[in-house]
Amino acid sequence: MTTDRPYETSHRAPGELRPGDIVQLTDPKGRPHTITLTEGKVFHTHKGALAHNDLMSAGEGAVVMSSNGTGYVVLRSRLEDFTLGMPRGAAVIYPKDAARIVATTNLANGARVLEAGAGSGALTAHLLTAVGPDGRVTSVERRADFADIATDNVTAWFGHRPPTWELIVGDFVDAALEPQFYDACILDMLAPWECVETVSACLRPGGVLVVYVATTTQLSRIGESLREHGGWTEPRAEESMVRTWHLEGLSVRPDHRMVAHTGFLLITRRLAPGAVLPPRRTRPAKGAYGEDYLPPGK
Ligand SMILES: C[S@@+](CC[C@H](N)C(=O)[O-])C[C@H]1O[C@@H](n2cnc3c(N)ncnc32)[C@H](O)[C@@H]1O
Repeated sequence: MTTDRPYETSHRAPGELRPGDIVQLTDPKGRPHTITLTEGKVFHTHKGALAHNDLMSAGEGAVVMSSNGTGYVVLRSRLEDFTLGMPRGAAVIYPKDAARIVATTNLANGARVLEAGAGSGALTAHLLTAVGPDGRVTSVERRADFADIATDNVTAWFGHRPPTWELIVGDFVDAALEPQFYDACILDMLAPWECVETVSACLRPGGVLVVYVATTTQLSRIGESLREHGGWTEPRAEESMVRTWHLEGLSVRPDHRMVAHTGFLLITRRLAPGAVLPPRRTRPAKGAYGEDYLPPGK
């Protein structure tokens, strides 16, 4: 079955729900349940049953009563709802970081993007959505079991395996990738510095590399590896924090709990082959490299 999930509502009647849609049912306590609509099926909660056909008849945005009279809000899942609830092999890239990655890599319909590893496929689904029907996403994943999980999740989200997606099972450094072909590459793995030569070969000049790492030691090592390679603009590092707020009457304040850390993004762009960055005008901070460090060429 194919659905129009990624390209959304333009050719649906307002509120129309169809078999194959992934929907969230939210109970009065705000707890979400995610189901895929199927003709004739019944969803059972401890607060009564809901027939999928009744949900489809009611449509998106309706409040539907379960068999024991509990009201559930019916909404199609957004990709961010889906990725946070889907089965995981490896840890996923959170929506806040995926959104930032899509923005900083400048992805749009027709872009060619490469990622490693695919893990659970959360970022893959964001990338496939961003590059649209004319783009291409190549994912490389060295663990076959994780590649299967990524395939299941991506297929569940799109309702079919997108023809714009290529999944290579193997190590990134061994993958046969077209030279200077990709507009962007995202590395999300433990040791991205092992992949600098490979990614340097397959990004086009001006292509954007984003490396997602969980720790500062990884961030330092990948930053220095890229500087040592020399074929990249000065790397920039950032992190995004989303703080949710309690919003009720006059009680308006940050929530007491938050997802305080996911990862850091290192962002850099590929120079043309043979191009050399002008010498840095700002000197490294005193002690940044330790007492024994000699700059390259000294
Ligand atoms: C944290 S997960 C990626 C999660 C993914 N970005 C997501 O949003 O679901 C890291 C993945 O990188 C894979 N990996 C690590 N090194 C790799 C390499 N050199 N080549 C290919 N895959 C690699 C691991 O097997 C793992 O599945």
